[in-house]
Amino acid sequence: MKPTCILQKTMNILIVILSFFFLFPLLHLVASIESCLNAVCQIEAPVVRFPFWIQSQQPKICGFPGFSVSCNSEGQTLLKLPYSGEFTIQEIDYSLQQLWINDPHNCLPKRILSFNLSGSPFDGIYFQDFTFFNCSLEYLKYRYNPIDCLSGSEYTVYATSNRNAFMYLSSVCNLVKTVKIPVGLPDYEPELSWDIGNDLRLSWDTPSCGKCELHGGRCGYKSNSSQGIGCCSVPQNGIPRSARYAITVGLGVPAVLCFIVVLCCLCGKIKYYSSRHDPIADFRTTVAPQPIVVGGLDVSTIESYPKLVLGESRRLPNPDDNTCSICLSEYKPKETLKSIPECQHCFHADCIDEWLLVNASCPICRKSPQKLPAVDVP
Ligand SMILES: *[C@@H]1O[C@H](CO)[C@@H](O)[C@H](O)[C@H]1NC(C)=O
Ligand SMILES: *[C@@H]1O[C@H](CO)[C@@H](O)[C@H](O)[C@H]1NC(C)=O
Repeated sequence: MKPTCILQKTMNILIVILSFFFLFPLLHLVASIESCLNAVCQIEAPVVRFPFWIQSQQPKICGFPGFSVSCNSEGQTLLKLPYSGEFTIQEIDYSLQQLWINDPHNCLPKRILSFNLSGSPFDGIYFQDFTFFNCSLEYLKYRYNPIDCLSGSEYTVYATSNRNAFMYLSSVCNLVKTVKIPVGLPDYEPELSWDIGNDLRLSWDTPSCGKCELHGGRCGYKSNSSQGIGCCSVPQNGIPRSARYAITVGLGVPAVLCFIVVLCCLCGKIKYYSSRHDPIADFRTTVAPQPIVVGGLDVSTIESYPKLVLGESRRLPNPDDNTCSICLSEYKPKETLKSIPECQHCFHADCIDEWLLVNASCPICRKSPQKLPAVDVP
């Protein structure tokens, strides 16, 4: 196996491992954000999201303890208080961390008589004392507003926080109970009798997601294991910033690694090819078969140059020149010499033949011989 292949395999394994460590938990986080999208019991019902969660629609990770809600058959969103039973959620303000509740059976005063927020994460913001009276006097109906759902044919029930009404009713009726009611707004000049149409207003402190919600974020658990609460901002395009971050990191890190691996592989491949296909070697093989004529003379011209065979006396045309300048060896008897007609310089015939094939000039005087008609040896 080539070293580049081993490197590539190692890097591939590394990517798989890193993807598992980076991508998987992040995708899981994205998935958990996706699964914790807003839920509703019906159209126009309050939107339910962290810290509230609809048990039948959302996983437990989407909600905070004490904030579980359910839907009834009428599509009402129900919140169960540990000591007071079920109430319908009329509205939730996630930024203010407040909610408005009422009685699903439209008799809130009845529920208020036994209202107790103990054991729930909720508390009231404004409390107002209301005193309930049970009266048998018929004419009181025309002066005060009776609570119909608590009244019978023989008696009428009233609730008031008005001091004068309290004074009068306590003198003619049975005082049932005085209760602290978490009202929507404190009424400093209370009516003679309570308007039962109002919802109860509650708030919560923990988890503190108001700031997050106020800035358009979405609250939730940081992870499945920890109880830490985090905030993801939700931009207009629908993908939370944290999710985009997760996607960027989750996909970006392996992508960068992939890029590096591809780069490494390409480098390896290029090296491999360059070692196998040596461009210079390729050049040589393509160029070599062509005759090297550049600067040389053609064979017929070289053949036409006068030759002479040395005798025993080694008589030379130029007696001072007894050495071949090409092979630097002295001329011996019986050797064939050749001279260049232009300058009369002599060389071994084999030496000058080879030379002139490459160079069209005399090796001694550099005179360029021309293509000449054959000259007979004198
Ligand atoms: C609410 O219920 C708890 C538990 O039963 C009790 O201790 C507490 O006194 C009750 N509060 C009121 C205002 O009745
Ligand atoms: C009012 O008194 C009647 C009997 O006089 C009783 O049946 C009824 O339960 C009482 N209602 C309340 C809310 O106390």
